[in-house]
Formats: sequence, structure tokens, C-alpha cells
Amino acid sequence: MPLHRLTTLHVGVTEMDDTREWYRQFGLTEEEPGRMATRDGGVQLVLESAPYRGIRQIGLGADDPDDLARIAASLADADMGIDVEHGDTVRFRDPIDNVAYEISVAPRYAAAPTSAVTFNSPSAAPRRDEPADAVLRAHPVQPSNLTHMVRGSKDPVASIAFHTEVLGFELSDSLGDFGGFMRCSDVHHNLAVQLAPQPFLHHVSFECDDVDEVGRGGAHMLDLDADSHVWGLGRHAIGSNYFWYLKDPSGNFAEYSSDIDRISAQEAYQPKDWNDKENLYSWGPPLPMEFLAPPDIEDVLAAMAED
Ligand SMILES: [Fe+2]
Repeated sequence: MPLHRLTTLHVGVTEMDDTREWYRQFGLTEEEPGRMATRDGGVQLVLESAPYRGIRQIGLGADDPDDLARIAASLADADMGIDVEHGDTVRFRDPIDNVAYEISVAPRYAAAPTSAVTFNSPSAAPRRDEPADAVLRAHPVQPSNLTHMVRGSKDPVASIAFHTEVLGFELSDSLGDFGGFMRCSDVHHNLAVQLAPQPFLHHVSFECDDVDEVGRGGAHMLDLDADSHVWGLGRHAIGSNYFWYLKDPSGNFAEYSSDIDRISAQEAYQPKDWNDKENLYSWGPPLPMEFLAPPDIEDVLAAMAED
């Protein structure tokens, strides 16, 4: 697979200063104004002032220039009328939804090993005579990486075909005509699409070391602004990850996640039949309507349609 991860996502925001501060509090490091870095992935979120919130460009990483050339050739051979710029990077617009993509040579993640966390249970209690590690953590949460994003597509079936057949993604799970979860690494999903009239940004997700970091991060953001809460803490069924969704001051959803499924090979993985939105989560608070239909969605879709 020539691709190996999301690199940098450019996101339009309407409230630049407040949104920058919000992502600093979320745990990203602002290396330059609006350029937010994760702990292990470098700058992975670039905030751009825009008349409406949403995706400005999706960045994907490849291992070397030969892989870039192979992807450029695949795009040209797709016979989909794609205009491909191929220099140090490969730039194009997705032929289904007209979303801008930039593929560049990027290092693979090299996440520092996290300290071993022990859990006591009725049958095994390896932690003796000391409190849980998480109780003693005092450092601010620092997400490791931008692990996935979810966006709208006017034709998810065609979008999945484009991403898998032309770009080399693999399909992990699908929701029939409604959408699908795709990966360009061993993570269960790096990109998911869902049926929508415009390719709006549903959410970005940042991977944390463990569920305690998801909880500590969510609690910190609620301490600052209880209205930023969207949904959590819970555990998804598709992908298995713990989640806590929050809303930035421009209305974009951002997720803390951990313990997402890893897939070693397509043939080793058995997708289940998830064709039921009840399966969106295994446990957690009731699914809020806001998650399915963000409160500003009508305005965002109208602005995108006019753009
Ligand atoms: Fe997610």
C-alpha cells in the first residue's frame, strides 16, 4: 500500500483566534499561528480563516518519490478527468466530491512507547500497594496523532471505489449505500465517508495513549466550556475505539480516541454486518441528534453549495 497515514488536514474556521486557543487546550502544539502539531505526527491540523467551516485540503503520506509517481500514474490512468499536479507532491481534486488532496513523502509515525498500564480485575490484580497510574497523571493530554477523519460524500459507493481502486485504500467496514470506513495503514479507519449532499467535515479524530487520556482530555475541555461537549465517553462498535467528541468554536467536531482496531491483513480481518446505525456504539451515553445532524449543518451545506 503506497499510502501510510493522514499527514496534514487543512480546515476552514470562522472563529480563528478562539479555535486556535481551543486546539491548544485540546492538547495540540501551535508551532506557528494556526499550525497545530500532534505529539508524534508533526503539524497535522492547519486552521484557515474561511466563510464557513470545513475541509480545505486532505493530506496523505507516502513512503518515497516512487510511491508518489505510482499514485500520480494511477490517478492519470483512472480515466476520470482528474487534473494531477505532480512535483514534490501530488495534488488533485477528488472526482466524486471535488475535495482537494495533497500527497507527500512523509515519515511513518514513530510513537514513543507508553508506560505499561496495569489493570486489576476480579481474576487478576497485578497492581498492588499503589494507586492506578492514571490517578497520578498531572501532565496535559497530548494526542499522539491525527488518526482519522470523517466527511460527507454525495456518492459514498463511488467515493469508496475511487479511494480503494485508485488511491490504494482498503475497505474495513461498510454501511451499504450510506458510507464506509477505509484505511491506508493498519488502523481500522483513517478516512470514512457518509452520505451527504456536500463533503462537509463531520469530525477529526486524535489518537490518545489510552482511555484515561480520552477521559482526562474530555474532562479538561468541559471544565473550560461545558457547551463544547457532543458525545462521550463511550466505545464504538465499528473500530472498537473509545471516543469522546467535542465541538470547536467554529463548529467542527474533534474526537479523542484510543484503542482502535488494527488490521494486519485484509484476509485476516472479518468485517461484520454493521448495516444498522444502532451498531454505531457498543456503550456510552445515548446517541445525541447533534452527532448525526450538527446544529449548523444546514447553513454549512448551503454555503458549500454556493461556493
Ligand atoms: Fe471517529
